[in-house]
Amino acid sequence: MFTKNVRRVALIGTGFVGMSFAYSLMNQGGADELVLIDLDVRKTEGEAMDLNHGVAFAPSNMKVWAGTYADCQYADIVVITAGAAQAPGETRLDLTAKNTKIMKSIVEQIMANGFNGIMVVASNPVDILSYVAWKASGLDKSRVIGTGTSLDTARLRYMIGQYIDIDSRNIHAYMMAEHGDSSFVPWTNVYVGSKPLLQMIDESEQLHMEDLQGIYESVRDAAYEIIERKKATYYGIGMALTRIVKAIFNDENSILTLSTYLDGEYGHSDVYIGVPAVINRLGIREIITLDLNEVDQAKFDKSANTLKETMNDAVH
Ligand code: 2OP
Repeated sequence: MFTKNVRRVALIGTGFVGMSFAYSLMNQGGADELVLIDLDVRKTEGEAMDLNHGVAFAPSNMKVWAGTYADCQYADIVVITAGAAQAPGETRLDLTAKNTKIMKSIVEQIMANGFNGIMVVASNPVDILSYVAWKASGLDKSRVIGTGTSLDTARLRYMIGQYIDIDSRNIHAYMMAEHGDSSFVPWTNVYVGSKPLLQMIDESEQLHMEDLQGIYESVRDAAYEIIERKKATYYGIGMALTRIVKAIFNDENSILTLSTYLDGEYGHSDVYIGVPAVINRLGIREIITLDLNEVDQAKFDKSANTLKETMNDAVH
C-alpha cells in the first residue's frame, strides 16, 4: 500500500454524495488523482470535465478522469457512495436489501482488479453495508471503514456550539452507534474545551438539561428534515468523506466517529457500528472505549442489537 508518491482515490458512485465529496476533495487539495467510476458513463464523463475545468482555482493539482474498475488496482483509497438513496419517509435500514446486493457486486469488482488499499463506505445503511463490504473484500477490518456517525457528530458539535455560542471545533462530543434512528449521545462525555457540558449546565441559568434532548433529536432527525426539503443530503457527508480521506493520507491519528468492526469493545462483537476511533495511514488503528453509564450502555446495546438483527436478515 501507498508505495508511490501519488495519492490516488477511486470513487464509486457519481451521484450527489459522490460528487459533493469529489468537489470538496478538490477544493481542499486532498488527493493527486481522482478516478470517477459509475454505471452512468456519460454523466461521469461530464462530471470529470466539469471538475477538471475548476482545477486552476484549486489549491493544488488534482487529475480527474472517468474510469473503470481496472483503475482501482492503483488506488490507495476507494470511496463507495453508490446505491439507492432514502426517499422521503424511508429509514436508512429500509435500504438494506437493495443496497446489500449493489455493495457486494461493487466490492467484488474492486477486488477482482487487485485493489489493496483502504475502503471507505458511505452508502446507507452505512453500518450494514460496511460489514457487507468487509466480508466481500476479504480485507483486514482496519481497512474497511464506514463513515458511521462522523456526520452526525459534526451536526451535534454544530448544534451544541449554536446552543452555547462556542465554536463547534471546541465542542468535544460524539454521536455514537447506528448512523440512523438508534444513535445516541453519551452526554456525560461531552466537553466544552476541557469543561464538562453538564457542569456548565449546572452552573448556568440559561442552559437546561431538557434542551439537550431537543438537540439530540434534531441531530438524529437531521437527514429526514433535509430530505423533506431538498430530497437528499450531500454536502455534509461529502465533507465528512474528505475529512476521512485526508486523515488517512496525512497519517493523522485523528479521532473520528467511524463505523468499524467491534471485537468485544463496548461488549459487542461481529458488528460494524459508529464509535470513536483513531484513524491513520493504515486505516483504523484502535477504537476509543469511553466509560458509558448504564443508561448509555443500554442505548448502545439496543443499537448494536438492531444492527445485528438487520444484518442477520440481510447478509446470512
Ligand atoms: C445523512 O445523514 C442521509 O445518511 C445521510 O445525511
